[in-house]
Amino acid sequence: MTSLPAGLELRPLHIPSSLDAPDAADFREMVRLRNLIYAEISGHEDSSMPADELLPLYQPKPEMKRFSWIVVFHGDVVGRVGLDLPQEDGARTGFWLIELRRSAWGHGIGRAAFAEIERVARAEGRTVLQAWAEHPAADGPRLAAPTGFGSIPEDHAARFLTASGCTLEQIVRVSRLELDGSRPHLEALLAEAETAAAGYRVVQWTLPTPDEFVESFAWMKSRMVTDAPSADLEFDEEVWDAARVRRYEAGYTDAGRHMLVTAAQHVDSGELAAFNELVIGKDRTAVTSQEDTLVVAAHRGHRLGMLVKCAGLLAWHDVAPQSPRVMTYNAEENRPMLSINERIGFAPLSYEGVWKKVLD
Ligand SMILES: CC(C)(COP(=O)(O)OP(=O)(O)OC[C@H]1O[C@@H](n2cnc3c(N)ncnc32)[C@H](O)[C@@H]1OP(=O)(O)O)[C@@H](O)C(=O)NCCC(=O)NCCS
Repeated sequence: MTSLPAGLELRPLHIPSSLDAPDAADFREMVRLRNLIYAEISGHEDSSMPADELLPLYQPKPEMKRFSWIVVFHGDVVGRVGLDLPQEDGARTGFWLIELRRSAWGHGIGRAAFAEIERVARAEGRTVLQAWAEHPAADGPRLAAPTGFGSIPEDHAARFLTASGCTLEQIVRVSRLELDGSRPHLEALLAEAETAAAGYRVVQWTLPTPDEFVESFAWMKSRMVTDAPSADLEFDEEVWDAARVRRYEAGYTDAGRHMLVTAAQHVDSGELAAFNELVIGKDRTAVTSQEDTLVVAAHRGHRLGMLVKCAGLLAWHDVAPQSPRVMTYNAEENRPMLSINERIGFAPLSYEGVWKKVLD
């Protein structure tokens, strides 16, 4: 790299084995910046994560090659940069992020960091770069998604991404549900879904997944990238086996995070037909995250999405009674899933753009 702005260092992030290790300072600083930047962009702290809960997610895994840097500008750490490369056979994609303190914007740091991301991605044989960016509500000109669903303000990040050769492909809606007082409504919706879902039963577990469900859970996880609406984005098909499920689970359990999986089981075949994940960190008074939800294609049309979400949220009242709310992310064109969330009571909080650049 010859053209870095004066005073800029992109320092490869060292991943320590523990946070008490003497070499953990950069990792801690990366997490501090991550949380500060998300709060600056969104105006809330619900995306915050403690360093010890992020560390397991950074440990090397055979399914993902991860490059990370911290951004040092005139001696201060002002942000972080990352590039994740799925390791599936024939993988083409790379998922990147550049996140800078607002005070560091507009000095050419983003441009230099993106040039480095592109250089590494090309060297690794990747042809598609994709990224998610939150675009807080703002007045002024807007950019519409080619899906026809949703738009974002043409803000600094949007201008940067466009100038960098990325195109906006999809809008993701971030929604929030207040849990206080939600139980009666959830019970009514669950009863309705149970009537429509005759022939299925709810099964629930906290991690680790019981052995009897690992294979079916692995298969459902592999469908997430193929079956969720993905506009013109590209995803390498993922292969999940029991060992990958166990590594995925360790990313939560090694840090004391708690996940409740609620699945719908087809009674006659024993097959799992749908699932939903609810997650909370060690601080059980913090926000809950609703992560993956999927109804397997062959089992759609039986209200299984509503079934697993309501059964999960009702059980959650006992798992984390002090968690005030749940956050979730959905593609703006994913009407079936948004309709379920809206009926449950999730309300839009903010919007993200999903951006793509094809490298030639
Ligand atoms: C988006 C972000 C990374 C940009 O970083 P930055 O250091 O402020 O950007 P730069 O100073 O390198 O570039 C700023 C300007 O150069 C332009 N520019 C950037 N790359 C360019 C290129 N290759 N060619 C021409 N112009 C370019 C941009 O359009 C922008 O122009 P503007 O000032 O008229 O708006 C930074 O604002 C940020 O961290 N935002 C929050 C997180 C985020 O949204 N990240 C993006 C996706 S993960």
